[in-house]
Amino acid sequence: MNSHHLLPQRMDLPGTTVCAAGSSENLPAECARFGPRGLLVHGRSLSKRGKISKIAATAPAAMEIATWEHPGGEPTLRQLEKLLKTAREFRPDWIAAVGGGSVMDLAKGCAGLYAEHGNVTAYHDGAPITTMGLPFVAAPSTAGTGSEATKVSVLTNEETGIKKSFRSPHMMARLIVLDPGLLKGSPRHVIAHAGMDALTQAIESYTSTGATWFTRQLALRGAQLLFQNLVSAYESEGEDLEAAEAILTGSYLAGVALSSSRLGVVHGLAHPLGARYKLPHGLVCAACLPYVLTYNREAMGEDYEDLSRAAGTDLLAAVAGLLADLDIDNPFKGRGFYDLDGMIKEVLASGSTAHNPREVTTSDARSLIRELFTY
Ligand SMILES: [Fe+2]
Repeated sequence: MNSHHLLPQRMDLPGTTVCAAGSSENLPAECARFGPRGLLVHGRSLSKRGKISKIAATAPAAMEIATWEHPGGEPTLRQLEKLLKTAREFRPDWIAAVGGGSVMDLAKGCAGLYAEHGNVTAYHDGAPITTMGLPFVAAPSTAGTGSEATKVSVLTNEETGIKKSFRSPHMMARLIVLDPGLLKGSPRHVIAHAGMDALTQAIESYTSTGATWFTRQLALRGAQLLFQNLVSAYESEGEDLEAAEAILTGSYLAGVALSSSRLGVVHGLAHPLGARYKLPHGLVCAACLPYVLTYNREAMGEDYEDLSRAAGTDLLAAVAGLLADLDIDNPFKGRGFYDLDGMIKEVLASGSTAHNPREVTTSDARSLIRELFTY
């Protein structure tokens, strides 16, 4: 546990990071260095709150901004195809995501594949991205996936039901705007689910077999910020700006860390379960986390105590308390499961599972899923 390398063998870090309340309102001007034409990708709730038109209106006169609204739900390959079509017609100099994880993953995927000629499904299936794409800019409106700090886009192929990621170093954000004001007015359950994703990522990055001294510093501080501030952000619906800034920072730190360290079996379980049951990623992570921590506890060694200190109390008790405070119940409990073998196959094939601190066998994956649906 103490033999970590200082740095990952290879590390892609995000570009300029601006962290200040109100900073999203300067986004078009900040992006002017990439060129005058920008495509703003966003979700419905931010445009309903008037945020998107407000941001677009701040563009200097010489700039031209187009917008594209994510229709909702978990991001899919078909949605990416539609966004690519819009982008290729508009011909932007840069593409910015102002929104949550789904919006960021779609915009990032679009930025990455913009100059590619293949079918999106081919890249989802592993075809290499060889072109530079467009500069990608991210202004997260949830403290969750950390997608603003990774070179990965996680999308679902709606034909096969398979949810997985594709990546390119060129997809790393060139500019990140962390504006706690974007969390204001978020629905409580969105803050809770996204926050549990971020916390799970911080914990899994910390204990990952790919962790290094560098990623562990970020992951542990990220976990602490999330443990300390998630409930205040949830209860205030993002109005508590200090708490919003803390969880946004925690999620960003976890994102930078996981980008190099990778994760663990919660994320190995989350993709097959999320795609089959159409549940928010963060909710699935939240449901799996206690079972996986119990399963991993011995293999975690001193890491368990480190994370307990970050949480302010015993780690498992802290997670249970947090789930109660965030009104999160296990959505799988008492439900019937189907395609168990298919799910197990995906769990075992996942790069996240491969980095879990305890090796996961077929029978371990089966027991974890059984427990999740039973207790
Ligand atoms: Fe996640």
